[in-house]
Amino acid sequence: MVLEANPALPVVSEAKPAASQADHLLDLGAATSDDTLRAQLARELERVRRRSDALTVDALDEPELLSQHSRLMSPLVWDYAHVGNYEELWLLREAAGRPAMRPEIDDIYNAFEHPRAERPTLPLLQRDEARSYLTTVRARVLESLETATFTPDRPLTADAFVHRMVIQHEHMHDETMLATHQLRRGDPVLDDVAPPTPAGGPLAPEVLVPGGPFTFGTSTDPWAHDNERPAHRLEYSANN
Ligand SMILES: [Fe+2]
Repeated sequence: MVLEANPALPVVSEAKPAASQADHLLDLGAATSDDTLRAQLARELERVRRRSDALTVDALDEPELLSQHSRLMSPLVWDYAHVGNYEELWLLREAAGRPAMRPEIDDIYNAFEHPRAERPTLPLLQRDEARSYLTTVRARVLESLETATFTPDRPLTADAFVHRMVIQHEHMHDETMLATHQLRRGDPVLDDVAPPTPAGGPLAPEVLVPGGPFTFGTSTDPWAHDNERPAHRLEYSANN
C-alpha cells in the first residue's frame, strides 16, 4: 500500500510579531507528577495565547478586527473573545467552581446561539476590552492551576482533561483565524514563511507501507479526536 505523504503545505505563519513556527505544536506528554503537569499546562496555555494574540489584537486594528472578512467566518475579535469566554466557562466556573465574571456576555459568545453570519451584528467586546477580559481570565486560571488536582475520581479534571480541551479549543480557533486571514482582502499582515524541516530531514513524497497488520488510531494519546479512538488493528493487502 502506498500512502501519499502530507505535502509541504504553504504555511501562513502567525509569527509576526511574537509567535514562532513551533507554537502550533502541542507538547503535553506524560507528566511524572502533578507539578510537572501544571508546568506543562501553563506553558501550553501561554503558547496558544501567543498564537491567538498574534492573529488578532497584535496584527490588526479595531475596524479590521470587528469587520467580517467573509460571511463564512466570524469577526476575528469574536473568535478571540470566544476563546476567553470558553476558558472562563470550563476552567474557572466548571473546574474551579468560580462565579461567572461577565454573565451578560455568555450569550454573545455562545456559538450555538449565533451563526457566523449574525455575529457582526452582536454587541461584541471591542479590541482593548476583549484583551483585558482574556488577560484577567488567564491570570485567574493560572492561579487556580496552582492548586488544581487531576485525580481520576472527577472525570472533568482527571489527567487535566478539561485543561487539554481548552488548549485544543483555542488552537482550533487559531486555525479558523488563519483561514479568515486568507479570506481577508488587503495587504497581508502575517508573514508567509517556509514550513519547518522535519526532524531527520525532508519527507519523501510517498511512503511504502508493506502489506500485513496495521494499527490505526490510538487508545492512549490524550490529544486524539474521537474518531481516532480506539486503536484498532487491520490487515492490509500489499496490493492495496
Ligand atoms: Fe469554539
